[in-house]
Order: sequence, then structure tokens, then C-alpha cells
Amino acid sequence: MAETTKTATLTIDGQSFELPIHSPTAGPDVLDIRKLYAQAGVFTYDPGFTSTASCDSTITFIDGGKGELLHRGYPIDQLAEKSHYLEVCYLMLYGELPTATELEKFESTITNHTMIHEQMHNFFRGFRRDAHPMATMVGVVGAMSAFYHDSTDIADPIQREIASHRLIAKMPTIAAMAYKYSVGQPFVYPRNDLDYAANFIHMCFAVPAEEYVVDPIMARAMDRIFTLHADHEQNASTSTVRLASSSGANPFACIAAGIACLWGPSHGGANQACLEMLKEIGSPENIPEYIARAKDKDDPFRLMGFGHRVYKNFDPRATVMKQSADEVLDLLGVENNPILATAKALEAAALADPYFADKKLFPNVDFYSGIILEAMGFPTSMFTPIFALSRTVGWISQWKEQLSDPAHKIGRPRQLYLGETERDYTDIETR
Ligand code: SDX
Repeated sequence: MAETTKTATLTIDGQSFELPIHSPTAGPDVLDIRKLYAQAGVFTYDPGFTSTASCDSTITFIDGGKGELLHRGYPIDQLAEKSHYLEVCYLMLYGELPTATELEKFESTITNHTMIHEQMHNFFRGFRRDAHPMATMVGVVGAMSAFYHDSTDIADPIQREIASHRLIAKMPTIAAMAYKYSVGQPFVYPRNDLDYAANFIHMCFAVPAEEYVVDPIMARAMDRIFTLHADHEQNASTSTVRLASSSGANPFACIAAGIACLWGPSHGGANQACLEMLKEIGSPENIPEYIARAKDKDDPFRLMGFGHRVYKNFDPRATVMKQSADEVLDLLGVENNPILATAKALEAAALADPYFADKKLFPNVDFYSGIILEAMGFPTSMFTPIFALSRTVGWISQWKEQLSDPAHKIGRPRQLYLGETERDYTDIETR
């Protein structure tokens, strides 16, 4: 816990209560209310947790005003440019960038865990072919506790380590299998001679009928997308994983809960929703109509890929993603992509509009990612599974961090009750 530098005084009905204030290494001070209910008999009220810190952490820091994102202190734009996803995974899990020897050992471990239990192939076949790949991923990842029961004892640090490696290694295999199953093609096994991103692309797009050579430009773009989605403080799905883990649930069940939460269009489902929105807009001349709808309080329409609870400036991941979109589309020979043209025109129109400027609504990570993924050949239904694949290391790192805190306890929020006070049951004849 951070040092207690000062206290705040809360006065209720003439009685004063001293609340410790902890100072972080970065970000706002934190008012410690853990003893508030015991001392003052009151709860705090913060639906959506707009002003509430649920934990202390050393993994990721976001400065929403500056549009800054750090992983273990390293800026996301430097990691996206100079590092690669498995090195970022090591950094997330262990806190420091690896030496060459440490990285080689880690990459070898992950590579050699990429296959899933052969019996799990049958599990996929219980789903309808037209099931959304996220539905399949939630089910299959949750079922992993039935196949890897030897790494579910969360009290055993060795089993926690094995479960971490298994989840990071097998998530691309499971996501690729969910995709293959949805298009009626045979599963493609992982290959140990390919790096993490190339392996995922190969498992998605190779077919037994002919050799498939992974384009290194696609593999680099894929790896960068994985890195940009790796972790993001206590977002909804990470908080879901932490809450599930606080009851002692096994890691596979916790990650399945995170996948389920990520699926929502306000969260990780926004990348699919954003591309569908851009296709619905169709061309730049239709943008004014959609901008007007986004501003209309009576219209539930929102600009998908815009706005963020924390960023009140550009999402730094969107900035990197936008650069990648230009590069990847040019290199893949997808010049003059009408969707990218619409996206850029929409971004310019929204940023020039006082409504979005005043509410500090900027493009977020989901605004450009779908354009790249579609250009790479992925259907929109695979956008959120790729987000889930990427975020697994963040969920796992936060899960490990919570379990390593001996003071951690089950999460159990209270409520502001506005229902009926006690009343007696009435027989149906008298109602
Ligand atoms: C992710 O938390 C994370 O870190 C998430 C994430 C991660 O890496 O884990 O970054 C990934 O989920 C990115 C966000 C993807 N979602 C979308 O792009 C969906 C569209 N965005 C919105 O639904 C919204 O901006 C949220 C959900 C992202 C944030 O919502 P908040 O913080 O609860 O803000 P809000 O809904 O209270 O909006 C504040 C105001 C409102 O207007 P008023 O009621 O104050 O008049 O801004 C308006 C909103 O109506 N607003 C929008 C808008 N987003 C907010 N208006 C139009 N279009 C939008 N996109």
C-alpha cells in the first residue's frame, strides 16, 4: 500500500471522521474509506465506479488528460514500435523487460503450450456453426478447467504460473478454432516454427489443400494489434476477472467471465460495432446525419469507437492504430479504402464539432482496429475475439497481482436500497 501522506476530515451530523489519503506514484491521491462504514455507519455511492479505486496495482497507468498509457512505466507507443507482444506479456507478468535468455525461455514455453487437449475439439462441435465466435470462446475457455484441472489450485504459485502460460498460449488456438468452426473449415494446428502472431494468422487462414505463407507485414500488424490491446487498468472486463477471482474461482472460469464482459458493445464489442457503423454510414456525405443522431439525446445512437471513461484526450492506442491502418492498407494493396475514408472524415467532423470537443470525446482503440482487421481478411465477428486474445495477458497479470496480495478479500459491494421496507404477506384472496 502507498504511504499515507495526509488525512481528510468528513463531518456528518456534527461528528468528524478522519480518512487516510494515500499518494500514488502517478495519478490522483486516493481517499481510503475502508473503515468508513464501521466508523460512520454510512456507505459511499458510486455506480459505474467513476471515482472509485478498486485496488492498488503496479501494472498499467493511464493519464486520461494527457492521453498517456504506460505498461510497467513504458509508454505504449514505444512498446508498439520497439517491442513485440510476447515481450510485452513477459513485462506484464514479471514487471521488467526480459533479458535475451529470459525472453527465449518464455517464448519457448508459450510456443510449447499452444496446442489444446485433443478432446476439446469435440467440445467445439456442440455449438451451432453460426454461433458468434465470442459465444464459443466463453464456453470453451470456461471448459478449460475441466481439461486442465492440474492448474486450477490458485493457492499453488506453480499452478498459477502454468495456468497463466496455458491461457496466453492457447487463446490464439481457441480463437482460430472458433473462427474455423464458424466457416465450416477444418481446424489448423499451431506450428512451433511460427511466431505468436504469424501462428494465429496461419491457424485462421491456412487450409489443408495448399500451403499458406504468412505475410510478414500482416504478422507485424497483427502483433502490434495484440500489444495495443494487452491491458488497460481496471476496465470492465478486468474488474470482472478480479471480482470472479476474489471468490477463489479457478483462472479459466475467471478469464471466461472476462471474455463475457468484454463482448459488450460499450467495451470490447465496440470494434465490431464501429465497423458496422462505418459501413452503415457508407460514405462521407452521410456523416452529418450520423453526427446529428449521436448528439440527439432522444436517439440511442452513439459513435462507436468514440469516447472513453478515462481518456479525455486522444487514446494513444488509437493514434498508433491509425498509423498502422494507413501502412497496412497501403502494403496490402487496399488503396482508397472507402471505409477508411469514411472513418477519417467522421473523425475530422466529430473533432470539429463542439459537442464532442466539449464532452472530450475522441477516437478510442476500437475506432481504427476494425478497419485493419477487415483489410487483413477477418470477418467483423472475429474482431472482439482478437481483442479477448490480446487482453488475456492483462487479465492474467491483474489476476496474479490480486492473488499475490495476502490482504485481498472477496469483493462484495453494498447498495443504496430504495425498495419497500418490511411489510406482511397478504393472502391472494385479499389482494
Ligand atoms: C473500450 O475502460 C477501458 O479502458 C475500456 C477499453 C479497454 O482497453 O479496456 O479502453 C476498451 O471499451 C473502449 C470504449 C469502446 N466503446 C465505444 O467506443 C462505445 C461508444 N462509447 C460510449 O459508449 C462511451 O463513450 C463509453 C462507454 C466508452 C464511456 O462511457 P462513460 O464514461 O460512462 O461516459 P458517458 O456514457 O457518461 O458519456 C458522457 C457523455 C454523455 O452525454 P451527457 O449525458 O453527459 O449529455 O458523452 C456522451 C454521453 O451521451 N457520449 C457520447 C459517446 N460517448 C459518450 N455521445 C456520442 N457518441 C459517443 N460515443
